[in-house]
This record gives sequence, C-alpha cells and structure tokens, in this order.
Amino acid sequence: MTAEQISLEAMETGHLDGAVLLSREAGWPHRREDWELVLSVSEGIVALQDGRVVATTIITPFGSDAAAINMVIVDSAMRGRGLGRRLMDAALEKTGIRSCRLVATKEGLPLYEKLGFVAVGEIIQHQGKALKVAVPATVSWARDDEHEKICSLDRAACCLDRSKLMCILRQAARFAVIRERGEVKAFAAVRAFGHGLVVGPVVASSRQQAKDLIQFMLAHHEGDFVRLDMELSTELGPWLVERGLAHVGGGIPMQRGPKVERAEAPYRTYALVNQALG
Ligand SMILES: CC(C)(COP(=O)(O)OP(=O)(O)OC[C@H]1O[C@@H](n2cnc3c(N)ncnc32)[C@H](O)[C@@H]1OP(=O)(O)O)[C@@H](O)C(=O)NCCC(=O)NCCS
Repeated sequence: MTAEQISLEAMETGHLDGAVLLSREAGWPHRREDWELVLSVSEGIVALQDGRVVATTIITPFGSDAAAINMVIVDSAMRGRGLGRRLMDAALEKTGIRSCRLVATKEGLPLYEKLGFVAVGEIIQHQGKALKVAVPATVSWARDDEHEKICSLDRAACCLDRSKLMCILRQAARFAVIRERGEVKAFAAVRAFGHGLVVGPVVASSRQQAKDLIQFMLAHHEGDFVRLDMELSTELGPWLVERGLAHVGGGIPMQRGPKVERAEAPYRTYALVNQALG
C-alpha cells in the first residue's frame, strides 16, 4: 500500500476508538475521554487505510494568532514512509499564519526541525502515587464566580487566548486558588487524565505559590496516581520527587512562525494543562 492510497480526513468522534489504539500502541496514557477533551477545542486530521485509523494529528487554535499541534502519531508499522510529514503539512496548512507550538518527543524532533520548528526549552514529566503531605493554609478551592479571574491569570501567564479550553476545563477540572485580600492571585487545576489525575495548569507569581497550590492538590489526592508536566526551568522536579512523583520523561517545546508576546510579569505557568495542550 503506497502513501497515496491512504486518505486524510477530518477527525470525528467515530475515529476516536482507532485513535486511542494508536496512542496506546505509542505508549501514551490517553483515554478516549482525553482525546474527546482535546478534540472538543480543536480540529483533527486522521489518515485512513481501508477505513482504519493509521495516523492522527490535532490542531488546537488559541484565538486567531496561535495554535498548538498535538497527538501526532503514525502506526508503528507505517513509519518512515512520509505519512508523518504528510499529516504535518496538512496541519500547518490549517494553522495558516498562526504561530505554532508543540511539545516534541525524541521521535518527532527531526520531522519538526525539518518543518522549521525551533526548540525553546525543555519539558519534564513527573508522576507517581502522591505521598502524604500537609494541606497549605494559603490555598482553598475556587468558587464558581472566580472562573473569569482564573482565565485572565491564565492569559497573562501564557499570552494565549485559551478561553475555549478554560471553558472546557471549568467542567472537567477542579480549581484551587490563592487569594490576597479576597482577590484570586494564583490557581491550579486537577482533573482525570490517563492512568489517574493531572495537575495543571498551575499559574502563580512565585515558585512558593506554585508549590503551595500543587501541595494542596497532592494533599487532597494522597495515594492517587498524579502527573505534572512543567518547564525544567521551574526547578520543581526534585521537590516533586520528594512527594512521590518521579521524573519519567518529558519533551522539547518547539515554536514556528511569528513569536507570541512574553508573559505578563509576574505571572508564570508552573505546570501545563498537559504536553499536548501546553
Ligand atoms: C514522529 C512520527 C509521527 C513520524 O512519523 P513518520 O511517518 O515516521 O515520519 P516521516 O516518514 O514522514 O518522516 C518525516 C521526516 O523526518 C525524517 N526523520 C525521521 N526520523 C528521523 C531521524 N531519526 N533522524 C533524522 N530525520 C528523521 C524523515 O527522513 C522525514 O524527512 P523528509 O520528509 O525530509 O524525508 C512517528 O515516528 C510516530 O508516530 N512516533 C510515535 C509517536 C510520537 O512520538 N509522535 C510525535 C509526537 S510530538
């Protein structure tokens, strides 16, 4: 079967069982619900061979000037034949003039470099069973009327219009906040993902605030399997290991196209929604 006999089509929910099989085969933990969440704020492309999903990619727009490309997977039996490149070309066509970002695996890196993506840092992944820790007094669960403020902090930290994504997370995640004089100054979210839970995004204006937020989530999920993805430069790795979350891998964040503005000081994203969404 040649690459030309494989058709590219818009991803629909009917393709998700095939997509889950591909991600499982690639060693990724995504459940059908995790694919559904990403697809609900994105546009996906599947490669079909005799109706079977043999490759995937998803484009998540953030407003009109930025997008993330994620879930790039080619069936292991069909790699090295140009299918990954074909999907990426189709994805980039959809992103148009937007600035594009992604988190590359070791396997994806050469392809993305050829397409003009440039490495901009390093992401580390930590996960494990959360050990017993104290609940920090500075953190509380968020009220529903604080969601707008949470969204504005997210925007200040990542400089992206992620309003659609944050709207979905409002349903899918539980948020905790740090307030100063009654106003929300930092937040973290926790939700079901993969083999357990993921904590992210975490947006704060200091490492101490980020630690307090994460510790609050761990204290409420003692013994649960928890994952966090974050920039190596946050220097939170060793602290997470002490709390039961081992360093198990990571990826290379890459960008292509016009640069997006820098974060609004002092806010910073200390943990990602996940590697796919940044
Ligand atoms: C990454 C992945 C999608 C690539 O798919 P693929 O179909 O094998 O890729 P292609 O055959 O289209 O190759 C793409 C390009 O990368 C190049 N390439 C691939 N591996 C390379 C390597 N190790 N060193 C240098 N170049 C490499 C190819 O030569 C090709 O370049 P060309 O288009 O100029 O000829 C596939 O390996 C995969 O699914 N991996 C597992 C999941 C994963 O890690 N996905 C990436 C998520 S960020």
